[in-house]
Amino acid sequence: MKRPVRIAITGAAGSISNSLLFRIAAGDMFGPDQPVILQLIERPEAMPALHGMAMELEDCAFPLLHTVRLHDNAEAGFKNVHYAILLGARPRGPGMERKDLLSANAEIFSRQGRALNDHANHDVKVVVVGNPANTNALIASRNAPDLSPSQFTAMSRLDHNRTKGMLANHTGCNPTDIRRVAVWGNHSATQYPDLRHAETFGMPVFPSLDLNWVENDFIPRVQKRGAEVIAARGQSSAASAANAVIDHMRDWALGTPPGDFTSMCIVSDGSYGVAKGIVFSFPVCCRYGRYQIVQNLAMDEASLKRLKTTEAELLEEKAAVDHLLPKETEEAH
Ligand code: NAD
Ligand code: LMR
Repeated sequence: MKRPVRIAITGAAGSISNSLLFRIAAGDMFGPDQPVILQLIERPEAMPALHGMAMELEDCAFPLLHTVRLHDNAEAGFKNVHYAILLGARPRGPGMERKDLLSANAEIFSRQGRALNDHANHDVKVVVVGNPANTNALIASRNAPDLSPSQFTAMSRLDHNRTKGMLANHTGCNPTDIRRVAVWGNHSATQYPDLRHAETFGMPVFPSLDLNWVENDFIPRVQKRGAEVIAARGQSSAASAANAVIDHMRDWALGTPPGDFTSMCIVSDGSYGVAKGIVFSFPVCCRYGRYQIVQNLAMDEASLKRLKTTEAELLEEKAAVDHLLPKETEEAH
């Protein structure tokens, strides 16, 4: 039996967590031979609800669940963790854009960046889910001077999975028969779900698609799917978000399937002309616990224009939180 890995989850009494914890404990994230220690973090006022979740976890008698610890502060909760899943944030309500949450959540992610820096395992892998996820990840990363920026990611896997799901539905094939879809940019309505490199059954699919469907139906639908779910449910997506967290962490740790890639928001190194230093969703391949941007994908003019639009939004978000990005840390990176 392997040694257990430590996984911290903030916002652990919330809706996404309610779908996520039980799947992690069942082995869906790191496999059926990997025991897990869950370090669950909540605001003090949500601790009673968190105790309830811990009781339910115990009542499942999961063989892989080594220990569950409950914390009302990030500093104790991040102690020695190998993975950190940052869900805890204020979710947006009807009519709000994700960036309306910037200032409400920026303080949270500055503190959590510092706490990860000071208390987590030096190789910790972090995924930020709480919105606006890309800029929250940037804030956390820049507040963690002793960790590499490459250890901080934000989640665009839900958008990636939405892209696959909608294409599967449109073409009548199974999502597992689809490869090489990509999501670029911000986890927001400016994101670019890109089908130009997509394959079904190993063959390019783009030439057979109606461009009008791609541009006027498919792209806006993926971009606004979060809002569509909120309008229908009265609250933001939870089970599909939890499923995407599982996919994101599993692929990062265990690798992407051969011949395919996934999408992750990572600190830009300037690839594809994207401004360096913003957290931007790129197509990536993962091997040996690391990710690499897929290079040399042919980008037509329309695609490059979409990349610029979403890049501009991220630069605007970054400017709005500049005061929370420590200058010395920027130089150190
Ligand atoms: P929720 O309101 O049900 O749960 C959030 C939990 O976080 C609450 O229990 C709250 O007490 C807790 N919390 C708030 N601040 C905290 C802090 N500083 N430390 C610890 N816990 C804290 O929300 P949810 O539906 O679980 O969604 C969580 C976040 O994920 C939201 O920001 C939502 O917009 C975002 N989201 C992102 C994606 C994505 O694809 N990136 C998808 C869905 C939802
Ligand atoms: C989503 O994409 O479902 C989440 O980011 C929630 C939201 O605010 O749209």
